[in-house]
Amino acid sequence: MSRAVDAVEVLFARRSTGRLVAPAPARDDLQTILRAAAAAPDHERLRPFRFTVLEGADKDAFGQVLADAYAARCVSAGIEVVGAKQEKERTKLGRAPLVLVVSAVRRATAIVPWEEQLAAAAAAAQNACLAATALGYGSMWRTGEPSYDPNVKAALGLDAADAIVAWLYLGSYREGVPPEPNDPDLEGLLLPWSPP
Ligand SMILES: Cc1cc2nc3c(=O)[nH]c(=O)nc-3n(C[C@H](O)[C@H](O)[C@H](O)COP(=O)(O)O)c2cc1C
Repeated sequence: MSRAVDAVEVLFARRSTGRLVAPAPARDDLQTILRAAAAAPDHERLRPFRFTVLEGADKDAFGQVLADAYAARCVSAGIEVVGAKQEKERTKLGRAPLVLVVSAVRRATAIVPWEEQLAAAAAAAQNACLAATALGYGSMWRTGEPSYDPNVKAALGLDAADAIVAWLYLGSYREGVPPEPNDPDLEGLLLPWSPP
């Protein structure tokens, strides 16, 4: 089988996997995943993407950041802090042994609109998921309220104007069993066009 066919198979093999287990991507594999992310297309080579690896005790500690940020959002919205929700924030990074946060740092440029910088960071996130899949790991791209929370951004060293594009949960498949490959159909996706 040719290399190109293998690569196309990886596109379909990438599926969101909600619960992933140890082992996390090994050091060399993580390096490959990060380099694949950094290979994303990027208008003007601004390199607007940033990566934060959360693993082990650091990941656990970041759960407290998420829990505190949830409570602060509640306080500023004048709503009650729900203990179960706060606990979910504190523990949710436990759904995989490693979480890779992909962010976009806003660069002031007349040539590349912010939307394109976000698109480059999203391409980086997808590259990371595909590389993880190719290396035999499971992945899941998640977002949610913390992605838009300035306190969470600050904890990651980002400005409020920057964006958290993805929380990529990475790890091994439970019992080593990957999910079924994707089998998308194109129904409704093709917009016909012909000259007027
Ligand atoms: C920008 C973005 C944000 C996402 N956020 C979430 C999320 O917060 N929670 C979630 O369960 N899935 C999230 N997903 C994953 C989608 O739910 C998932 O890709 C979709 O259900 C298709 O499944 P598949 O990835 O296995 O093909 C997100 C995907 C993208 C691209």
